[in-house]
Amino acid sequence: MITFTFNGEELSAHLGQSVAAALIANQERITRLTRFDKKPRGLFCGIGVCFDCLITIDGERNLRSCITPLRQGMVIEVQDGN
Ligand code: FES
Repeated sequence: MITFTFNGEELSAHLGQSVAAALIANQERITRLTRFDKKPRGLFCGIGVCFDCLITIDGERNLRSCITPLRQGMVIEVQDGN
């Protein structure tokens, strides 16, 4: 197991999981809010095609959570806007 932070809360997941899989395993479904209406978005295709799962990791925006491997100590935040 490895630990990471999501919106300021320390969570844990299995090494080898994607960021999206780790979030779902922790009952977290929202990865971003849409730019204009602030509607929640999350995992959709799960294979890196749709860009619905964009998220901010260690201050870097627009990363696809479904194809980004989880690493120890990542600081992950719901992305506000796209
Ligand atoms: S869920 Fe479609 S790109 Fe990540």
